[in-house]
Amino acid sequence: MRTPLIAGNWKMHKTVAESVELVEALLSGLGNITDREVLVCPPYTALHALGSLLQDTPIDLGAQDVFYEDQGAYTGAISSVMLRDVGCTYTIVGHSERRQVFGEGDEIINRKLHAALGHGLRVILCVGETKDQRDAGMAEKIVTGQVQAGLVQVTPAQLANIVIAYEPVWAIGTGDTATSADAQSMHATIRQTLTSLYDEVQAQQMRIQYGGSVKPDNVDELMSQPDIDGALVGGAALKADSFLRIVQFR
Ligand code: 13P
Repeated sequence: MRTPLIAGNWKMHKTVAESVELVEALLSGLGNITDREVLVCPPYTALHALGSLLQDTPIDLGAQDVFYEDQGAYTGAISSVMLRDVGCTYTIVGHSERRQVFGEGDEIINRKLHAALGHGLRVILCVGETKDQRDAGMAEKIVTGQVQAGLVQVTPAQLANIVIAYEPVWAIGTGDTATSADAQSMHATIRQTLTSLYDEVQAQQMRIQYGGSVKPDNVDELMSQPDIDGALVGGAALKADSFLRIVQFR
């Protein structure tokens, strides 16, 4: 009942020409997919070119982040209006690299989420604990807190346009993926949190992706878990063959 969403977060990789090349390879290798959604999130500089290329194709276009104001004196920032203008239908917010490298907290992330939803973008809200937090037995508390804070003032009707991505920080870019059992357990905790914030029906309808060293050789096992509804893929999304294999999980 939940359509899996496989998304590539390219982070700070690829020029415009390289982005076009990758997307053309994805389009030609994708085949006929109807039972899953595919999304690419290139850097801002490639969005415009890919927006035209992806029109009327099965691949959606998303941004990696967004600012919460629509326009104004905010040097370096990009708004939801601008993302819509170039063909984005999604944006990520709250990625752990935004939280850690750029110092973003839950309140700013919640403002970004509301701005994006207000302009008709779908949002992938990222949450996840660090290694120290996990070792201290705090993982569930941290993740639950991030879900609650990220969804402040979100109405039940808006939930349909939100996807949660559980990305344990220690699994990102390390090759050290969570076991499918640990990932499933945290996804179940997140769904429980959604049930308490909203209700059982809403919680069951929401998609929760896993991210952190998802690769062709672990995607099938991860996707077989009942509460894992997709993947947010970094490194393995930068090459057509590995991303296509992840999209074609079995
Ligand atoms: P990796 O797949 O490279 O671990 O990155 C995961 C990620 O941060 C996706 O947003």
